[in-house]
Amino acid sequence: MSARALLLTTATLLLLVAAARAGQPLAGGWSPIRNVSDPHIQELGGWAVTEHVRRANDGLRFGEVTGGEEQVVSGMNYKLVLDATDADGKVAAYGAFVYEQSWTNTRELVSFAPAS
Ligand SMILES: *[C@@H]1O[C@H](CO)[C@@H](O)[C@H](O)[C@H]1NC(C)=O
Repeated sequence: MSARALLLTTATLLLLVAAARAGQPLAGGWSPIRNVSDPHIQELGGWAVTEHVRRANDGLRFGEVTGGEEQVVSGMNYKLVLDATDADGKVAAYGAFVYEQSWTNTRELVSFAPAS
């Protein structure tokens, strides 16, 4: 390979890496969260409830994440199933969709609703 061809190949690879970093989807499928006891998963569930309450001001209190799925994107998507207690003291299951990009400290609550 000539030096010029090598340079072009290297430049192409760098562009591909840059595109991937810039948030073009590198998406995989959804897979079950293997260990919901993972402190990060529980913390994420608590954050989702806090964020929901900040918007809805309904006094919901986080219990624990009981299940969910995760998907590698440019970051991670989480569909969490969690128990929470409402203002009347009633415990129910909720579904929270959270997007997280840890290296940019980004967290987004995409949706939050009672689990059907
Ligand atoms: C799940 O995570 C918790 C907390 O990190 C750990 O104590 C436990 O051993 C893990 N369980 C399995 C089956 O990996």
